[in-house]
Amino acid sequence: MTEVGRKILADDPDTPGSLGIAISEAVEVAASEPETRYALGSVLNHVLLHQTVIGEEAIKQMAMAGETPDLVVGCVGGGSNFGGLAFPMIREKLAGNLDCEIRAVEPAACPTLTRGTYTYDFGDTAGMTPLLKMHTLGHDFVPDPIHAGGLRYHGMSPLISHVYELGLMTAENRHQSECFAAGVEFARTEGIVPAPEPTHALAVAVDEARKCAETGEEKVILTALCGHGQLDLAAYDKYLSGEVEDYEYPQERIDDALTRLPDPEV
Ligand SMILES: Cc1ncc(COP(=O)(O)O)c(C=O)c1O
Repeated sequence: MTEVGRKILADDPDTPGSLGIAISEAVEVAASEPETRYALGSVLNHVLLHQTVIGEEAIKQMAMAGETPDLVVGCVGGGSNFGGLAFPMIREKLAGNLDCEIRAVEPAACPTLTRGTYTYDFGDTAGMTPLLKMHTLGHDFVPDPIHAGGLRYHGMSPLISHVYELGLMTAENRHQSECFAAGVEFARTEGIVPAPEPTHALAVAVDEARKCAETGEEKVILTALCGHGQLDLAAYDKYLSGEVEDYEYPQERIDDALTRLPDPEV
């Protein structure tokens, strides 16, 4: 229904859409209608700052439990729930009050932080936003439609990207089938169906706990359970029916996207 949307559809009538396209459309609507405003829900500094209530509360809850985390692990899409959990922990680390690893987990199908380039790029497909210095797979990235999880944004929060470059946190990527398996295990043991997104962090938390069981090492693992799986039961249905496939984002597409990055000097 937008000019941007019609142009993208004309170029690729079969496009499955993307978060970058949705942002371009939303910006166009907000810019052309005087009574309409657009508020971003992830990526930007103020969103991450707002989310730090998660980490502040986690620190207090850990104190109530008489524990400190050895590993803090969260899922990353745009970076907001992870930044919310991690930044207060990073503050405590920098102040010398906490000694722990802080690890982000993203999908192998959209490996922004682990395989993207750290450079200036647009936050949306059509190039309507200001340039952001961040890890990116290219602003025209369109996720493969087989990816059932929700962490499919081409960029990464500039704050997370910066902290990652400083070496204050680590990152890894996981395939969706093992994430769903961890989600089902979590639902069966905890009675909560997690959203597909945090199952990326759960898969790592479960693996790390199992490693400890093997080695006898004791570790306190803290993870953020963002979202609720009842909003995406269709994805679990697909997984349990064997319709969820794994997908490794190809290097050629990463290299190709780099040729279309904007020149920050222009
Ligand atoms: C429930 C849930 N958690 C987390 C995310 C990831 O976004 P962010 O990295 O901004 O927290 C998403 C994104 O789709 C989500 O739906």
